[in-house]
Amino acid sequence: MVSILSRIKNRVRRSILLHPHAQKYFQSQFFTRFIVKKQSEQLFDLVAGFVYSQILYSCVTLKIFENLKSKPLKSSELEKKCGLNTESFDCLISAAVSLGLLQRLDEGMIELRTKGFVIAMNPGLCELILHHKIFYRDMQNPVGLLADHGKETELSKYWPYATKKNEGSFGKMESIGQYSDLMSISQPLVTDQIFSAHSFSKYKKVLDLGGGQATFSIKLATAYRHLNITCFDLTAVSELAKKNIKAKGLGNQISFQGGNFFNDALPSGYDLITLIRVLYDHPDEKVSLLLSSIKKCMPPGGALLIAEPMITDPQSEPIRKSDAYFYFYLLAMGKGKPRSLAGITKLLYRAGFSKIWKLSCPLPSQAGILLAK
Ligand SMILES: C[S@@+](CC[C@H](N)C(=O)[O-])C[C@H]1O[C@@H](n2cnc3c(N)ncnc32)[C@H](O)[C@@H]1O
Repeated sequence: MVSILSRIKNRVRRSILLHPHAQKYFQSQFFTRFIVKKQSEQLFDLVAGFVYSQILYSCVTLKIFENLKSKPLKSSELEKKCGLNTESFDCLISAAVSLGLLQRLDEGMIELRTKGFVIAMNPGLCELILHHKIFYRDMQNPVGLLADHGKETELSKYWPYATKKNEGSFGKMESIGQYSDLMSISQPLVTDQIFSAHSFSKYKKVLDLGGGQATFSIKLATAYRHLNITCFDLTAVSELAKKNIKAKGLGNQISFQGGNFFNDALPSGYDLITLIRVLYDHPDEKVSLLLSSIKKCMPPGGALLIAEPMITDPQSEPIRKSDAYFYFYLLAMGKGKPRSLAGITKLLYRAGFSKIWKLSCPLPSQAGILLAK
């Protein structure tokens, strides 16, 4: 609820800012000129955001961060590796320097800055950046995307199970590999948060619903050797998952079960069920259906762990800019929606869960985590 005080504040601000000379006046005043400067820089970042992303995309595509990971390189050496002409190379490097990704050292050397190192050390992040070329094709016409919600998009073709047409299955078999690889390689972004938020030592049997090619199951089995894990996903993913489990020699700890979690009976007898990056792909009715089935198949004392990128809860925390990304990503995907901790909590209560805990993790913009009983 917007308080009376903030309503009055909004009204006063509105009447001041609508004055034709307001901006000039505040720019000229000692106490306000810094605020105006900061606001205008932030506004420019919004205007230029798409260009910034494309510069980042170019750096990842041309392996600039990867090439600089082990040591700084001479400009000429890096230019050769990129295969660009000097003028274009200089343009890209100068842009990346201004975005705080790289820095120029003495004698024509180029070095990563902290953000550049973080990207270089994070293959999952690089894959996410690269797959944005598909998302941005849809974002070229954002108004069309809003107007034609539900129509086939580039992103919905990339995530075949997410379209209404293919619900719970895959349009083309070849799509499985590409999306599954991205899910797998980007998993540490979420898994690291889960592992730092929760210990799995007290559980015996874990069911990872929508476990994809078993990346989370494998991490869990490796970290907790006593666990017995079932990875459940659409049958189409089974081959990939089984191959990965076998490659890690974890066949005695992890099994794969194929099925559609909306239509098929869920296996029972697990003291922990996990839903990692699953709910945001689906609309409320489907999520409610799934949560109710999970509640029914859980033994007394069993727990459900949910982890996925979540939007902020304006009631309890400052709104994060990353929310905007998730709203439009899921819009372009054609189905599903981003939820806050409070939004998921509401659906959990409705499905019959009575105790719900928010687990704290170091980077909440990468994953919100809930435990429910
Ligand atoms: C976004 S991916 C997340 C995969 C994995 N948990 C991770 O974090 O990497 C969602 C997963 O849910 C699976 N999925 C979607 N609809 C499903 C359904 N109806 N039944 C079973 N699995 C489904 C997809 O195949 C996919 O592997």
